[in-house]
Amino acid sequence: MASIVAGTFHQATPNLSPVATKACQVTGNGALATRKVPPFLKSLFHTSRNKFLDVLVDALYKPDKERNIYYQENFSPVEEVGSWTPVQVIDGEIPQDFPAGTYIRNGPNPYLLDESILISPFGKLYCHWFEGDGMLHATRFDQGGKFITYKNKYVDTMAHKIEKNTKKTSFLRAVEGDSLAISASYLLNFLRFGKVNGPTCNTHVFKLAGKLYAVAEADIPHEIDLSSLNTLGTLDFSGKWKGPFTSHSKFDLEKQELVIFGFNAKSPYLQIGIVSKDGDLIQKTDLELDRACFIHEISITKNYTLIPDFPLTINMNRLLKGSGRLVEFENNSSSRIGVMPRYGDSKSVRWFEVEPGYSFHAVNAFEDSDEIVLHALFSKIPFFPTPNGVDRREWFARGITPTDPRNARDPQVDGALLANLREWRFNLDKGTVVERNLTSLETCGIEMPKINKKFTGRKNQFAYAQVVDVEASKVVGMPKYGKFMKVKLPESCEDEIDVKYHDLGANRYGSEPLFVARPHSTDEDDGWIVSYVHDEETNKSEVYIFDAQKFQDQAVARIGLPQRVPYGFHSDFFF
Ligand SMILES: [Fe+2]
Repeated sequence: MASIVAGTFHQATPNLSPVATKACQVTGNGALATRKVPPFLKSLFHTSRNKFLDVLVDALYKPDKERNIYYQENFSPVEEVGSWTPVQVIDGEIPQDFPAGTYIRNGPNPYLLDESILISPFGKLYCHWFEGDGMLHATRFDQGGKFITYKNKYVDTMAHKIEKNTKKTSFLRAVEGDSLAISASYLLNFLRFGKVNGPTCNTHVFKLAGKLYAVAEADIPHEIDLSSLNTLGTLDFSGKWKGPFTSHSKFDLEKQELVIFGFNAKSPYLQIGIVSKDGDLIQKTDLELDRACFIHEISITKNYTLIPDFPLTINMNRLLKGSGRLVEFENNSSSRIGVMPRYGDSKSVRWFEVEPGYSFHAVNAFEDSDEIVLHALFSKIPFFPTPNGVDRREWFARGITPTDPRNARDPQVDGALLANLREWRFNLDKGTVVERNLTSLETCGIEMPKINKKFTGRKNQFAYAQVVDVEASKVVGMPKYGKFMKVKLPESCEDEIDVKYHDLGANRYGSEPLFVARPHSTDEDDGWIVSYVHDEETNKSEVYIFDAQKFQDQAVARIGLPQRVPYGFHSDFFF
């Protein structure tokens, strides 16, 4: 999923305290002068301060008997397998024209797992799925899949490096907990590590200017060596991009541009950038918004960028005053979508008020005659964060149970987490927007939408998504997806969608359905859906490949893997 890590401040790594770097002296004329402190004293101060902070954290935070369980069954972490491991097709065969390349999916996999609730003088801190260290699961194909290998590897972030060396948890949790406890986490994390929350890089992977990157919203992208999966360094466009970086950048194939963005708790709350195919940041725009919102995915068309401004707000004052949490969904606040020319600025954004709710993931957007069309997933409320004072499992179970709003005990809870595929049609000349759900009570509950990415920002016909298994998800309090869905999108505002399903069978659950195009194909859906699928009966995982045009047919190939692949987030295929 969308990786969604809260509290995205991004801070430069702090230098040593001024007290440590310089010693002050009063000169004869009363002025302050400074002299350099010998390096060994700096080092001594740094070490002593860090040891003191480590001892302080150990003294302040104690694990409770109660646990906040996310990492169970196939959500639980796995070890690295080591080197590339040859794997075999266990059913069917890899199509002759299946491209050579590497299928990589990212996801959270805590290096040191402790789901105990932490008790401190500042309140409780909860473990959250989104805070797990990023692990890449990679399956490499030669042409036609005659030789296939698998490897998994942690993204070697700063947090992962520290924990490997010390075998102790590094960053304090900072996603879910009492307000004061989250504030204390930010402060202590910043004092100890120079960042308010831990880098995870657990959400997505993308390629830019020939280089592969792993990314999550709370940090900058980490470069990954495609041949070894080793982490090489970070990307900040020569210091020009300060702050968080989206998990969902958009590459415009025709214009050879990557559109990026990042949201922040402090002003500017949202920055949008354009990167050339050579990896140069050629434009950066600060959106002068009056609130910080958790924006997981923007969309592009040939000439515009679409900005969802839904009320999952980030507010430091709320946190500092103890009146609420950093990230909260404001039920009664407005929702709007902005349409900005690709090279525009905050003054050129046209805002359209839309029905209140939340959209984590977009499907695609395009220009169609005099309209700009956006397809995205839309639910009444976001699944993050869990509201205060509720039993998370009960809240989640009610939220994912399809419920006619007319029969709901509480329409903001019952069925409110289930995402519909929604369409917005904006007319810039008339200043109007027409919106509707394309799915219904029977077809909602979808996530992780994918398209043939050649059509990003251009009119497309098909979208793919995974479909939640309500009953299986209720049991574990986490989303499991037992089917894939293919949607033929409407041609106009009068048309309906056409839906096909691919059922994985009993006790089998998938990851994001990645579309891999057949080489030299011209039809939009000419290719395969590729996903990591886990069989909970055998506790084994596989790479699962089926024909996107024969969507209901059985898999064309299933590849057995040497160990299970935990359920996770986003993926791509790299050539
Ligand atoms: Fe996402």
